[in-house]
Order: sequence, then C-alpha cells, then structure tokens
Amino acid sequence: MLKRTSRILLFAVILSFFGINYLFSFNNSFLSNYTPQKESIKDSTMIKAFNVLEQKCNACHQKKKPSLLFTMANMNTFAFSIHKEVFIRKKMPKGKDFPLTFEDEEALKLWLKSQDIGE
Ligand code: HEC
Repeated sequence: MLKRTSRILLFAVILSFFGINYLFSFNNSFLSNYTPQKESIKDSTMIKAFNVLEQKCNACHQKKKPSLLFTMANMNTFAFSIHKEVFIRKKMPKGKDFPLTFEDEEALKLWLKSQDIGE
C-alpha cells in the first residue's frame, strides 16, 4: 500500500519537473523571438497618441461624456470613430478649450496609420 503511494508520489514529482522545464523553455523561446526595437516603436506611437487622448479628450469626456474614456487598452477599438470625429466630421475635440496642436494631430495620424486607418 505504502509502496504504491510512494510510486505515485515519485511519478508526480517527475511530472512536475518536466512541467517546470517546459515552462522555462517556453519562456526562453518567447524571449529569443522578442524584437525589442519594433515593439518599442509601436509602443511609443501608441503612448504618444494616448497622451493626446488623455489630455485633449479625456479631460473633457470625464465630465461631459464619461461613457467614452480612452485608455491604452481600449483606444485601438475606438480608432475608427476617433478618426471619423476628429479628421472627417471635425466635431472633436469639441469646443475651444482643448485644441489639437500640429504635433497632436501628427501623433494621432501616425497611430491611426498603424491601425490601417487614414492616409
Ligand atoms: C470639451 C469637451 C470635449 C472634448 C475636448 C472632446 N470631446 Fe468627444 N465628446 C464630447 C461630448 C459631449 C460627446 C457626446 C456627443 C456630443 O455631444 O457631440 C463626445 C463624443 C465623442 C465621440 C462619440 C461620437 C458619437 O457621436 O458617437 C467620440 C468618438 C469622441 N467624442 C472623440 C473625441 C476625441 C478623440 C477627442 C479628443 C481629440 C474628444 N472627443 C474631445 C465632448 C468632448
């Protein structure tokens, strides 16, 4: 009886050893496939666009349109409507308090382009 239990235990130990090894090898291949430069270029495009959304859009939306707050996690899903409101209909940013500078527009356009939207 005891023998059987210890055999099962040994089996479990061996299995978990391979499990841990698998996890680490997965991690290694993930790291070696990682291309830091490409990623950071893409990230900085998004971060620059998000800064515009945060300062020129969320600044007002949080009071006037709280159902539409942009985050790094949701901004890509709003890319289409942001492009439409800002560059086609030119309804946003609403009012005169949060005008977009040339750099703001360029940052948004570059990000929208990365989402295959715009020119
Ligand atoms: C001064 C306030 C204000 C600013 C600044 C502002 N918005 Fe808005 N936004 C609103 C309001 C209010 C609405 C709700 C619809 C309306 O009243 O036009 C809205 C609606 C929207 C909508 C939904 C449009 C629709 O009808 O479905 C989008 C997209 C949007 N804003 C994007 C932006 C973006 C992008 C910016 C920044 C570049 C921005 N907004 C800046 C007030 C603002």
